[in-house]
Amino acid sequence: METALNFLDERVSEMSPIFSNEAFSRLDASDDGVFYQRDRFVSHLDSLALSTVEHVIGDLIVEERPAILDLMAGWDSHLPEGLNPSEIVGLGLNENELKKNPDLTAYVLHDLNKDPHLPLPDNHFDAVINTVSVDYMTQPVQVFEEVARILKPGGLFLVIFSNRMFPQKAVKVWREANEDERLILVDEFFKQSRGFDTTSLFVSKGKPRPKDDKYADSTPLSDPVYAVYAEKKGGLPNMEKRRVISVDGTQQPDKDVLARKKACIKETLCCPHCDQKLNKWEVPDNPFCQTWDNDYMYICFNDECPYYVRGWDKMYQDTLQGMSYRLMYNPEKDRCMPIPVPSPHALKDGIIG
Ligand SMILES: C[S@@+](CC[C@H](N)C(=O)[O-])C[C@H]1O[C@@H](n2cnc3c(N)ncnc32)[C@H](O)[C@@H]1O
Repeated sequence: METALNFLDERVSEMSPIFSNEAFSRLDASDDGVFYQRDRFVSHLDSLALSTVEHVIGDLIVEERPAILDLMAGWDSHLPEGLNPSEIVGLGLNENELKKNPDLTAYVLHDLNKDPHLPLPDNHFDAVINTVSVDYMTQPVQVFEEVARILKPGGLFLVIFSNRMFPQKAVKVWREANEDERLILVDEFFKQSRGFDTTSLFVSKGKPRPKDDKYADSTPLSDPVYAVYAEKKGGLPNMEKRRVISVDGTQQPDKDVLARKKACIKETLCCPHCDQKLNKWEVPDNPFCQTWDNDYMYICFNDECPYYVRGWDKMYQDTLQGMSYRLMYNPEKDRCMPIPVPSPHALKDGIIG
């Protein structure tokens, strides 16, 4: 029975359409230790995306005094305050960065691509995090198997990534996949390693880039944040507790306060979600679009309005599309409603006041 199952599993893995022979080849196959010898005390994401990463880590690690491994660590582990860990080990390739990382209680220099075996004990960690680095693993399934070995049963493996990379060091299958396909790819690493329960995913994308970011002029959108995570098999399921609730804009507003503000919007002409003045907006003159009750509406164009910020995640969950919505007030009907927008710029050319 066991042999038959193993055989079947091998067949399934061999037949996987995702991993061809060259899938994990790289443009620069030279020693990673040499590439990462250079210190890079830089931020790999913009500040909004980094704050999202912190919230995701803080919400998903629910253990008290957790022992954490930061796999492929640099100078910053993006841990939120209040996590109160018992230990944090960083495993990476650049000793100066690991030494300067204020979160770490210990570090290990180890090249995962030379040896995917982790020099760490079995069943030891409550959580393993891997941030913006999974794209550099040439033997990801073996590494995921090792992560399962060193986690306690029920422990969390949280893989976070975005769309930026050192292309010469990223594996071919990652470079050639689009962003949604990369979610499937990481899910596949979890599945093929066979050490984990069902995966969950978190996506935050399409939000405006912070205005003070150095790339704000050339890139209007904040770096997307994707997370795929699962618990090691065999533990008490904690997944109910592991929920991303505190990412900017996701806190639900007080319903009574909102209702009161909506009730007097005719007089205030302010957004009930952010209190900013609504802009008068001329409806498009297009017979093929919807027919409008009025020649103009009022719309909240505040890019930091929580209703609009929350909308990106909500729309992604509902439609898997990169869209959000803004609050629109119809003065004719004295009613608020969402108006969908595919980008922060959409509809803004209709502003007339
Ligand atoms: C883009 S940086 C991300 C650093 C950190 N995780 C963060 O979120 O800021 C990629 C990291 O992966 C580590 N790394 C790359 N290749 C590695 C390998 N073969 N073995 C171990 N670590 C590696 C490097 O040391 C580097 O710190």
